[in-house]
Amino acid sequence: MKTVRGFASATVGNVACGFDVLGFAITEPGDEVVLTLTDEVRSGSPVSITAITGDGGALPLDPKKNTSSFVVLKFLEYIRTHKQLDFKGHIALELKKNLPLSSGMGSSAASAAAALVAANELMGNPCSKMELVHFAIEGERVACGSAHADNAAPAILGNFVLIRSYNPLDIIPIPSPENLYCSLVHPHTELRTSYARSVLPASIPLKTAIQQWGNVGALLTGLLTSDYDLIGRALVDVVAEPKRAPLIPGFFEVKRAALDSGALGCSIAGSGPSVFAFSSSEKTASEVGNAMKEAFLHGKTPLRSDLWISPICKQGARIL
Ligand code: HSE
Repeated sequence: MKTVRGFASATVGNVACGFDVLGFAITEPGDEVVLTLTDEVRSGSPVSITAITGDGGALPLDPKKNTSSFVVLKFLEYIRTHKQLDFKGHIALELKKNLPLSSGMGSSAASAAAALVAANELMGNPCSKMELVHFAIEGERVACGSAHADNAAPAILGNFVLIRSYNPLDIIPIPSPENLYCSLVHPHTELRTSYARSVLPASIPLKTAIQQWGNVGALLTGLLTSDYDLIGRALVDVVAEPKRAPLIPGFFEVKRAALDSGALGCSIAGSGPSVFAFSSSEKTASEVGNAMKEAFLHGKTPLRSDLWISPICKQGARIL
């Protein structure tokens, strides 16, 4: 019998202008997955879920329907066909959810990433982290019906990532500036990714696209040169934010509060309802986060919220 614990933290997809192509990881909070390998050969699925805590009973226990077990099944299939590693025993999976569901904090990606690093370790690390990203993305399809990579890739790799292409998959790790801090505020309300995607237009005017790709280029340049002012100027989303902001009570007041408190920029975290802001010091990030929390609480629809202040996570998913 062998037990391995994997951990992966929250991630922020889109990063304002990079809808589905940019994301980053923070250091906490995160999900933990405990995998126990036994020699027992059972009929049916080689993976079973023994316990899920922290989800209020919302997540499925069927190994084919739960993101964390589904990605382990895909991983086992892959190592059997591509690495000639036939696996005979049984894996018991325990999921400890610390990330809120439907929060825009990459909850499903964190569970998948934690499960995948644990499974890889259990099998003697046959796959690189970049290979694991492929399975984590398949997990996103199970979780919300769309195989976007902007949470899954940073959950595994850490730092910022750019998804240059989905087909074929081309993921580019981007280093993060030393003094970049994220204030992540999660208001106590849910917004399903599938719904937040359904409000987006199927096509956008060329003028809008020009603005958006100008900002994506500028944001990457700002990250690569540690130009904090440029990062701030580039945190503009003219595609998803205008459509999704009405789904988040008090969003504009929260954004105003962040900018007035010294944030470089502020936007919706992934598909929301969480909101993130960047600052160039931990102290400012803390002031910004508290101002955002206050704005949520004193809006027309008062919402309590949780706040995390974090540097960018450099490591990605890891073994505990
Ligand atoms: N890029 C995805 C979206 C992220 O905005 O729908 C979901 O967290």
